[in-house]
Amino acid sequence: MDITVTDLVTFLGNVPGFKDLPKTDVEEKIIPIIGISQFDPGQAIISQGDAPHTLFIIYKGRVHGKTTTDDNQEHHFFIHEGNVFGESALVSNKLRRSTVTASSSTTCLTLDIDTFQHIMMRDWRFTKAFFILIGQRAIERLVKVEIETYYWSDKFKIGVTEVDDQHKRILESINELGEFINSAKKSDNVKWRIQTFIVEILNYAEKHFHDEELLMEEAKAPWLEEHKQVHQGLADDVIGFRDRIAELSDEGEQLHILEQMHKFMADWLIHHIMKEDAKFGDFYKNLATH
Ligand SMILES: [Fe+2]
Ligand SMILES: [Fe+2]
Repeated sequence: MDITVTDLVTFLGNVPGFKDLPKTDVEEKIIPIIGISQFDPGQAIISQGDAPHTLFIIYKGRVHGKTTTDDNQEHHFFIHEGNVFGESALVSNKLRRSTVTASSSTTCLTLDIDTFQHIMMRDWRFTKAFFILIGQRAIERLVKVEIETYYWSDKFKIGVTEVDDQHKRILESINELGEFINSAKKSDNVKWRIQTFIVEILNYAEKHFHDEELLMEEAKAPWLEEHKQVHQGLADDVIGFRDRIAELSDEGEQLHILEQMHKFMADWLIHHIMKEDAKFGDFYKNLATH
């Protein structure tokens, strides 16, 4: 990917932690030390327990983070284009607390922590901007997950009816999963129902992926293989959640993982539709008009 200095200045002008800095400082101090890394869907970018030496800014794509706490609870978070991750390493020399993987094909700008800390030490504006960012993140991650309802809207339509109908149905299944989580908190013996729910949602998602991939193949979409990889990544993650739930005997813990899976699937689906599937929608429309 060709990225010019002008692209970087414009881009960083919208990134938390960088947007409050004078443009000339960004251009003279930050851009010369920036690196660019490319990650495939499913590829690990940082692993829990690694020594921190890089700060990442997502230029294109999105990532999925997972933190396992000392008491073995899992927490999931998602970071999208135009945002920073790995920033806590800026203030503590502790090992990475989370594993972060690319959810789609992802381009990251990278900053070497040592060099960056050196800049921070010499300029209080950098330090202030990053301390604010780190504080906000810490608060966001402490907020308890509420089960959200996701409403279908025209902005999700990619213009291929068969695909739109299936997307709508997956979103409805995600909402049904949310309702199930809320009701399951009040009842007993939910374990087998959780497994049935996951199997159903996974089967339908896999059917959808298959149908969508077939349409792409027929249309000779050049990115088919990459798109297949992204679909497979979701299926693998859902299987990961399912296996994790199967290992647990406490129903409260199972529901906690299911809540994380609910949030994960909704985030994944909405962003996947609006970025990657929408690209196919445009491609398909172009084919029809030529
Ligand atoms: Fe897709
Ligand atoms: Fe899709």
